[in-house]
Amino acid sequence: MKMMLSLAWLLIAIAHKAKPFISEHFNECREFFYKGQLPDGFDDIALPHHINHPNLPDGIKERNLASPAYICQQYKNDDRFASLYDRGRRVPLYSAYILDRRSASNCSDRKNTFDVEPQLVDRALNKAMLRESATTREIQIHFKLKNIQEAQERLRTSQAVNADYGIAGFHRGHLNPVCHHEDKDAQDATFTLTNAVPMDSSLNQGQWRIYEKQMIAKARDCNTMYVVTGIVPGNNWIKNDRVNIPSQVWSAYCCVGNNDKPIGSGAGLANNINYSVTELNVTELELQLQRLIQNIPFSIFHNKCS
Ligand SMILES: *[C@@H]1O[C@H](CO)[C@@H](O)[C@H](O)[C@H]1NC(C)=O
Ligand SMILES: *[C@@H]1O[C@H](CO)[C@@H](O)[C@H](O)[C@H]1NC(C)=O
Ligand SMILES: *[C@@H]1O[C@H](CO)[C@@H](O)[C@H](O)[C@H]1NC(C)=O
Repeated sequence: MKMMLSLAWLLIAIAHKAKPFISEHFNECREFFYKGQLPDGFDDIALPHHINHPNLPDGIKERNLASPAYICQQYKNDDRFASLYDRGRRVPLYSAYILDRRSASNCSDRKNTFDVEPQLVDRALNKAMLRESATTREIQIHFKLKNIQEAQERLRTSQAVNADYGIAGFHRGHLNPVCHHEDKDAQDATFTLTNAVPMDSSLNQGQWRIYEKQMIAKARDCNTMYVVTGIVPGNNWIKNDRVNIPSQVWSAYCCVGNNDKPIGSGAGLANNINYSVTELNVTELELQLQRLIQNIPFSIFHNKCS
């Protein structure tokens, strides 16, 4: 009996060691949220997975398709940040991360390839973000598919792919931006499409980038700066129904000093056009989001970071 029990514990321990990448309510990556508390209200606005085919493609199971998906973004064996992924719109509703206050203000994007998330296709697949080509090979092998096109179709069904972007006027805009990180692995980890939304290219290169740089300066006085950056879903889509184009992007930060004591907070909100970023406080941002999204009362930080 004792032996059986310890065997059971061993199995549980092993199961825990294999960290799920798509997790239940970010249980494996709560460290990216202030006081470990998730923003409230956003889970309710995700659209269900929609599939254009009459039936689910072979091998894709309903249980794999819950929306939103809670992605603990894993890269080189580490959790890097968290993204709430809306499967119906094929964009993240937000990414939550810690801004590295050592970040250089002269940083620039160095990379142009974006990974995808194998676990959005099936949880048996790779737990870390992966190049599209490697992912389709994994899909083909896992489902024993005859040709690579079927694997590509399965990937496309589950999420946005690089081919969805490349339309005039829109960039693959990072929610968690490259330049809020200092070491190369942390920067590279941001290059995944589950952290990207169609962002007006002038906004992305212009006012939004300037705002991101200003945040780095604000982080210098914090022990830790917790950031949540997200979107307001829009009415327009890339390629009819493939990827939702946000009508707005927003970002909120919570700056804490010793003992996790809040010492400052703030937010920015921008229309997804070449215009400007409005700075506001966290409460004002929450009210704006409520006005913009189905009158839902949102809460971004524990106790409003105060
Ligand atoms: C950024 O600035 C630092 C120090 O001022 C310098 O060493 C580094 O080369 C610069 N990096 C880039 C990409 O310009
Ligand atoms: C975007 O706005 C900036 C300043 O407001 C302006 O200099 C720039 O030409 C605009 N770019 C486009 C593509 O409209
Ligand atoms: C946020 O702004 C509103 C309106 O300007 C103000 O009433 C409120 O006190 C501000 N809250 C904080 C925490 O600064």
